[in-house]
Amino acid sequence: MTELITTIRTMNLISQRYHQQGKSIGFVPTMGSLHEGHLEMMKQSASENDITVVSIFVNPLQFGPNEDLDNYPRDIDSDFEKAQSVGVDYVFYPSEQEMYPERPTIEVKAGELATVLEGKQRPGHFDGVVTVVNKLFNIVRPQRAYFGKKDAQQLAIVEKMVDDFNQQVQIVPIDIIREADGLAKSSRNVYLTEQERTEAPHLYQSLKLAHSLYEDGERNSDKIIAETTAYIKAHTSADIETVAIYSYPELVEQSHISGSIFISLAVKFTQARLIDNIIIKSEES
Ligand code: PAJ
Repeated sequence: MTELITTIRTMNLISQRYHQQGKSIGFVPTMGSLHEGHLEMMKQSASENDITVVSIFVNPLQFGPNEDLDNYPRDIDSDFEKAQSVGVDYVFYPSEQEMYPERPTIEVKAGELATVLEGKQRPGHFDGVVTVVNKLFNIVRPQRAYFGKKDAQQLAIVEKMVDDFNQQVQIVPIDIIREADGLAKSSRNVYLTEQERTEAPHLYQSLKLAHSLYEDGERNSDKIIAETTAYIKAHTSADIETVAIYSYPELVEQSHISGSIFISLAVKFTQARLIDNIIIKSEES
């Protein structure tokens, strides 16, 4: 049986009880509107831990003034059922009032890793992410926490935060879960028009093209970026915000590729801003 928990105090007490019993807690932080990407993380957590906790909280601190905070898709009943179907023990679903009775005076800063890519496009976004993830870690006190490679920069930043703050939690990365046609699953895919939905899988195709250029020996980032950009322009109506190659997880822009990198995309359709990426691990250096 899955239980819905809405207060920090109850969640804390539950977590404390499992700690005393020597049981491990796996934690999957989300903003709800759950899809198979989220569910995959929950399944993995359920298989690796005694107890799995999922949080559903649309965190206002990580949304910019012109972003989709008010319109972000919310459906707790359906989310709860989905979480229950994959063996989640507790759904932590606090109100905004519960999490932030007032705006926190002390916030965590994501720092340099947040000055590029998504962090550059969305000022303050990652400060909001690390602040809420910190609070959630303190409330749930998990041994393991699951984060998707879909948000590769977020994953790198959370890993760095845990390291910098010596937090006793293991971050477990999860591969990107995609629709059958390659589109990365996202709560924001519902914003796509029918026509845009048919175009969106080309984002993944463009990343596959980039990957194949790399496999064929291309190491000049500009060349890969130019071909990837041209492919997206030819196959979609989206406005391209970012096509970039950065080292991973250090997040330094690369003009010549060596070592582990990721190719990162951000595009805007009429209502949907979508991101996708591939991480290429190299044995070369
Ligand atoms: P949200 O966008 O709901 O995503 C929750 C987790 O699901 C993140 O770790 C994200 O990377 C992962 N995820 C999303 N789509 C995925 C996919 N197609 N395949 C694999 N994993 C996927 O990310 C957030 O919420 C928030 O920033 C949060 C960490 C909860 C802090 O508020």
